[in-house]
Amino acid sequence: MADILTLRKFEALSPFEIKDELIKLAKDTSRTTQSAFLNAGRGNPNWIATTPREGFFLLGQFAISESKRVMEHPAGLGGMPQPKGIAARFNAWLKKHAESDGAEFLTAMVAFAVKTCGFEPDAFVHELVDSIIGDNYPVPDRMLVHNERIVHEYLMWAMCGKPRPAGKFDLYAVEGGTAAMCYIFKSLKANRLLHPGDTIALGTPIFTPYLEMTHLEDYALKVVHIRAPQENRFQFTDEEIKKLEDPKIKAFFIVNPGNPTGMALSKETIAKLTNLVRTKRPDLMLLTDDVYGTFVHDFRSLLGELPQNTIGVYSYSKYFGCTGWRLGVIAVHEDNIFDKMIAKLPDADVKALDKRYGALTLEPRKLKFVDRIVADSRDVALNHTAGLSLPQQVMMSLFSLAEMMDGEKKYQAACMEIVNRRAWAMIEGLGLADKLGPNPNYDAYYGLIDFEFWARKNIGDEAVEYLRRISIRSISPFAWPRLTASCCSTAAGSRRPTGRSACRWRICPMRPTKKLDAACGALRVAIGMRTRRQKLCPGREHARCGGPSWRGSSTSPRARRRFSSSWR
Ligand SMILES: Cc1ncc(COP(=O)(O)O)c(C=O)c1O
Repeated sequence: MADILTLRKFEALSPFEIKDELIKLAKDTSRTTQSAFLNAGRGNPNWIATTPREGFFLLGQFAISESKRVMEHPAGLGGMPQPKGIAARFNAWLKKHAESDGAEFLTAMVAFAVKTCGFEPDAFVHELVDSIIGDNYPVPDRMLVHNERIVHEYLMWAMCGKPRPAGKFDLYAVEGGTAAMCYIFKSLKANRLLHPGDTIALGTPIFTPYLEMTHLEDYALKVVHIRAPQENRFQFTDEEIKKLEDPKIKAFFIVNPGNPTGMALSKETIAKLTNLVRTKRPDLMLLTDDVYGTFVHDFRSLLGELPQNTIGVYSYSKYFGCTGWRLGVIAVHEDNIFDKMIAKLPDADVKALDKRYGALTLEPRKLKFVDRIVADSRDVALNHTAGLSLPQQVMMSLFSLAEMMDGEKKYQAACMEIVNRRAWAMIEGLGLADKLGPNPNYDAYYGLIDFEFWARKNIGDEAVEYLRRISIRSISPFAWPRLTASCCSTAAGSRRPTGRSACRWRICPMRPTKKLDAACGALRVAIGMRTRRQKLCPGREHARCGGPSWRGSSTSPRARRRFSSSWR
């Protein structure tokens, strides 16, 4: 009883607070037991993109030499790098440092960017050098000129897919997808596109901050859930899409591919949404967060399909293993419904916005929505010092260019191989490999496991009911019956060389009783966890771990289909 009371406290916490509590608990447990603590927490990948980073650090050395070329004071002061002739100097310097890591990449990168984007070499190299030094405020504040052009090209591949949408997107470089979300919410409200009390739709399941932000007193939005159920392989059903016909719903926010489902919108779902917007809801504002798009072949975002209605959010964090760099982008098409809706606001609102942005421009009504997001990100008054730091923007250029130069998509194949290998190790560990086939929309970065279903089938009703009663249900809705599993970090046991790594997820009972411990032991072993005492041996798990004798497979064929369909 005391355990249940303790657990009830968790219901008042946000999912991230619960996560912190569980980490504390797991650390304590690992100190007193033989279980190792592995954190699959935030979906932080455990690999990094090395080539563009090598380029970055070598470029920094050249930049310092350029600074000293202008002025070298014995007290350690340098000058500001100058553009004239800088591309030729860089080329010569790279030849001299040809043995250094990154030299080959940088040499090819400049030639590639000049050719692909039509850059003037001195202007491009000077932007890189001056920015990596970081001796100026960001100008233009929204994004550096060459960086914007490069990232635009990158996003055409990473988000838009085929066919390439016509026209151009205006980009705003921001501190990761996190900042993108904050800035967009803020500007939609400031520009009277969303008012407190308005209704928006969220494609669920969704990355939980979207659920939390909408309910903050700052926004106080009403939320309609557009569900992508497991039974429909995490695609929105027709009935759910139909809800969007309601004109009360002002905006629809989605994460694609999903977090936590790992599923990208299928071509059919995109076609249905496109049809809905074109025929019934041309006024529907869309926000798509496509952080995981690069883990799906031929990914196509709503940004590519419905560019006029869509605000795109992209983050470099996951694909390039650079969560610490804080690199993200907001994309708004030059021809978009947001600007048009602002122009049609009631007179009083237009006047209020004239006042809000009047200090920035003599013609505030001509200020684009994307530039309003930039201004709002610094509470308008500090707009002159807005913008992502310049060394960050250089790293963003180099990540984007490295991917664009990789014609054979070797880096993408390697990232996909890692997450898929881990996902399939887990599926094998669950004894499901023979029941599931690949799903081209699945990114393998996250996955939802219906452990209740699985345990009922593999351990038996009695064990499930016991687990539910004793502890886990009392911290619903976060833990039981679904746990999110991530295939991107060390938690997936990536160090085993055979490629058949055991996945390590743990259901953590608060104070294990003998019976509960035995049930969890069976579950742990059956999903492929190894402890020092237990070796994974498919088919003989129970005998090996000395777990309980429950082993029913009382599940109906319908329920079995339901579970396995989500993984195909
Ligand atoms: C869907 C989604 N959006 C945004 C973020 C934030 O990422 P970052 O701020 O590192 O770019 C995450 C991180 O997990 C995410 O899963």
